[in-house]
Amino acid sequence: MRTRVIIDMDPGIDDALALMIAIRRLDVVTVSTVGGNVKLADTYQNARYLLDLAGRQDVPVLAGASRPMFYPLIKAADIHGEAGLGGTPNIPHVPLPRERAWTAIAAYAHQQTEPLHLIATGPLTNIAVLFLAHPEIAARWESITCMFGALPGTHVDRFEEFNVYLDPHAADIVLRHGKNIQLIGINVAHRALLPLRDVARFKSYGRVGQLLFEMLTFYGEQAKGEGGDPGAFPVDDVLTIAAVDAPDLFEWVELPLAVVREGPLRGTVVVAQGPADRPICRIASSVNVDGFLDWLWASFQ
Ligand code: RIB
Ligand code: CA
Repeated sequence: MRTRVIIDMDPGIDDALALMIAIRRLDVVTVSTVGGNVKLADTYQNARYLLDLAGRQDVPVLAGASRPMFYPLIKAADIHGEAGLGGTPNIPHVPLPRERAWTAIAAYAHQQTEPLHLIATGPLTNIAVLFLAHPEIAARWESITCMFGALPGTHVDRFEEFNVYLDPHAADIVLRHGKNIQLIGINVAHRALLPLRDVARFKSYGRVGQLLFEMLTFYGEQAKGEGGDPGAFPVDDVLTIAAVDAPDLFEWVELPLAVVREGPLRGTVVVAQGPADRPICRIASSVNVDGFLDWLWASFQ
């Protein structure tokens, strides 16, 4: 029985690769989208487009928040392309569904008794609204796995990460209310690099592989060197899928965490002080890079 997951994301090219691997390795029951790398209308359409291309029109796509709770939306169009999938031609937009993601996810989570995992690879706005509107939902997940912050307990070589920086209030709400949280920080994600010379391998995996080749060629040129190797680039969000499907690829530490929400340290993730008013989080402290890359390519065999 495959692990049943709901994925909240802001595709975005690394989100797209994560989704194409998730539908091969996990039971993706729903995808919800959020404004982040690009605006919500594009992240929503991109998720629909990717699932359609992969022949998975059966997977419902939901739309959530168009912007963070307090701060304005800062898009990452430079690295993901204006519409979020590199140079992919503008995909025709359909109107967003009237029902918001958190309402549909809550309804599904209430009716399901089976174990269910939650993965978030974008700003945490949708998840925070879900947990505030339905606190009983916050504790029902087998795991809540996020691409999240620059984390204490890891080798911190940078101090902010896009998802948490964009919506630090939502990120802190998730830490306060979620249970069974496991986090992939940017510092570990930037150890698991994909060599630029290997991107051509995607071309042998059909039309999905051809799109991944085109998108990752674009993305790789923008992101190369981010992990310190000029001939390789990180695939951040993909590590959340690996953390659910193959957690032994990682070493983990446990800490109570909080997020700095205002001021010059906005988005910084710190060890929570004082009485434990929040659950302990599992933090990936290292990744088996060769094992991760073998896992990534095996996803397409
Ligand atoms: O910092 C990395 C995160 O920001 C990834 O989720 C990427 O898609 C962007 O959203
Ligand atoms: Ca993302």
